[in-house]
Parts: sequence; C-alpha cells; structure tokens
Amino acid sequence: MSENTVDSLDTTLNAQLTEPLKFAYWVPNVSGGLVTSTIEQRTDWGYDYNVKLARTAENNGFEYALSQIRYLASYGADHQHEATAFSLALGLATERLKVIAAVHPGLWEPAVLAKWVATADHLTKGRIAINVVSGWLKAEFTALGQPWLEHDERYRRANEFIRVLREIWTAGEGGADFAGDFYRVHGYDLKPKPVDVPGRPHPEIFQGGNSTAARRNGGTVSDWYFSNGKDYDGFTEQVEEVLGHAKTAERLAPVRFGLNAFLIARDDESEARETLREIIAKANRPAVEGFRDAVQQAGNATGDKRGMWADSSFEDLVQYNDGFRSQLIGTPEQIADRAIEYKRRGANLLLLGFLHFQEEVEYFGAKVLPIIREKEAELAAREPQPTAV
Ligand SMILES: Cc1cc2nc3c(=O)[nH]c(=O)nc-3n(C[C@H](O)[C@H](O)[C@H](O)COP(=O)(O)O)c2cc1C
Repeated sequence: MSENTVDSLDTTLNAQLTEPLKFAYWVPNVSGGLVTSTIEQRTDWGYDYNVKLARTAENNGFEYALSQIRYLASYGADHQHEATAFSLALGLATERLKVIAAVHPGLWEPAVLAKWVATADHLTKGRIAINVVSGWLKAEFTALGQPWLEHDERYRRANEFIRVLREIWTAGEGGADFAGDFYRVHGYDLKPKPVDVPGRPHPEIFQGGNSTAARRNGGTVSDWYFSNGKDYDGFTEQVEEVLGHAKTAERLAPVRFGLNAFLIARDDESEARETLREIIAKANRPAVEGFRDAVQQAGNATGDKRGMWADSSFEDLVQYNDGFRSQLIGTPEQIADRAIEYKRRGANLLLLGFLHFQEEVEYFGAKVLPIIREKEAELAAREPQPTAV
C-alpha cells in the first residue's frame, strides 16, 4: 500500500471536520409518511407537495433529497411513486438540490440505468445520484417475477452492479468492458457521458445496508455508506469497520458516511419528547409487526446476524429506518450538539425524516441549522487540523 493511501485514509475523519456537515431529507414519495403511526402527519406523498418541499429544502440548507423505492403496498405505505422518475421531476423543479434515486440491482440492468442516469444528469446539470439498495422485501421481487437471491449474494450482485456503472460512466476510447458473475458489457461506449462536475468523477453512488456484506461494499466500492439510525457507539462501530475495508482495499477516494435520523425539533424539549411518545403510542401495530417479520430477510438472514433491524425494538421500527435511535430529538441546541458529535465520529451527512415535512424543514433551516454551523466552526477551531496529503 502506498504511503499516500494510508495518509489519506488516516486523515479521512479529520479532513471532514473542516467540511460543513451536509443534509439530505427523505423524499416522502410513498404514502403514510416516515413513521408507521396513526398520529396526524401533515405530509403528502404527491407531486405538488413534494415540489414545494424540494424548493423549501434547497433554501433551508439541504443539499440532497433521497427518494425511496417501493414497488408494492407494504406496511403502511399503500401508494408509492417510482424513485427515478420522481427524483428527476424534483431535480427539474429545483436549482441546486441533488436528487438521489434508490435503485435495486436485480430489477435494473446496470447498463440501462447508466444510460438513464447520464440523460437525467444532463437534464439536471449534474445533480443526479443513486442509492443502491439490495432489498429486504422478498414479496416485491416475487411479484415482479424476479428471483430472490440469498442475502450475501444480493450484496455480491450489488458490488458488481456498482463496478459496472462506474466502468460505463468513466470508460475511455473503446467503451466499457465488464465480465462478472451477474453482469457483462462489451465495448459499451456511453455517449454522452454524465456531466463533467469538478470534484465528481461520475454521479455519486450511495449505498443503503448495514450488514457485514454491506459494510464490505461500502468500504470497497460505494462513494457513500448510509447507516440506519444509531446511537454514537453503533455509528462509530460501522465507520471503523467500513474504513477498515477501505484501507485493506487500498482505496484512494475517501468513502463518506451518511446517518439516518428522524428529527423532532421543538422550542421545548418536553414538547419534542411528547411528540415522540405520541408517535409510538399511536403506532399502527399490525403494520409495524408485519414489517418486523419481512425484514428478517435483511441482516438477520445472515450467518452473523448483523445488519439493519437485527436488534431493533418495536418502538425503533415505528420509524422504519430506526431513525429514533440517533436521538435528534429535543431543542435546536440539543440537536445541534448531537449532530456535532456524529460529525466528530465521521458523519459527513445527516439524512433526515420529519413528521410534518414542510413546516419542519423550514424550522430546521431557521432554528437548528444556524446553531449547527456555529458549533462546527468552534469544533474546527478546537480539533487538530489534518496535515496536507
Ligand atoms: C438510507 C437507506 C435507504 C434505503 N432505501 C431503500 C429503498 O428505497 N427501498 C428498499 O427496498 N430498501 C431500502 N433500503 C434497505 C436496503 O435495501 C437493505 O435491504 C437494508 O438496508 C438491509 O440491509 P442489510 O441487510 O445490509 O443490513 C435502504 C436502506 C438505507 C440504510
């Protein structure tokens, strides 16, 4: 391993302390909101609401919007808009927001997706990204007539999927060649290539999943690793393991980390806590329990039983991405303190969900974000600066 590689990996955590924390929000493109609860949610999964929300978000400190993909009514989400189409629409309706669309290997051919992304990237002037999700909902694959691979095979396929995409987007003269167990391309010369954005070799590749196999892919092939909601130690454990894989693979470009959190910011801490209590008290029990059964196909289906939802309680699953576990719940000041601690532990981005998206994204931009920015300036002044690499 070259010294340069070691240095750049060892300074990854320090280097990101000098960069502002980034924010993404979950696009509510499926019905039922981000919590499986009968509590009132002034959030709408439709297009008009989402356009207004996207514009509000880009004016309130959000750099990214993540669209989910579900193909079937499932556990409180009865209706869903498809993620790539919806992301493109939001990209066209905004000016700066980067839109991330979730895609499943096994349902998309990577070369077709590479072509789709290149066009969408031109239409949005370089603002398209993807989130590669390996899937947990077997019924979706069955309904779509596709085989359901065993957990770690899904991740081996996702690993190839990401490598083929990157090869197609960056191939020089003669086009892309790839011969894997799942995918093959032969001299595929994509024209036009995605937009040339300084500092971005190709559209960014995010990845959802927290199992051992997901961590390996995160460290070796993805640009971004998304953690489900976690407490400090749970997040640190993942960062260390993923960076370990990056180091072993002698990876040059840094892997970046996003952490999911359901944010409940209120002027009074007791008000925020009361909202959380009410969300859980009004949980849609059959839907949460059905979800708990279905996600046994995720990390729990592996030999080491690690991964998303492997140790989630009923209360955790009311936010189906464990978003309460990050505890961004309280006053703006309290939330800012936790955000800074996650940043110190390696987070480059916080992926946020809300109860009433429109109002709460505005509140976040007005009340929470300015405190985070103040505190991160203090943090950068306090912590040792990275040495030049
Ligand atoms: C931030 C994030 C977003 C995700 N989005 C989706 C999605 O839109 N559709 C989907 O089917 N699964 C989604 N997943 C779930 C993953 O596909 C995967 O099934 C899950 O993370 C379990 O992975 P694990 O077994 O590696 O822990 C997402 C996961 C994360 C962390």
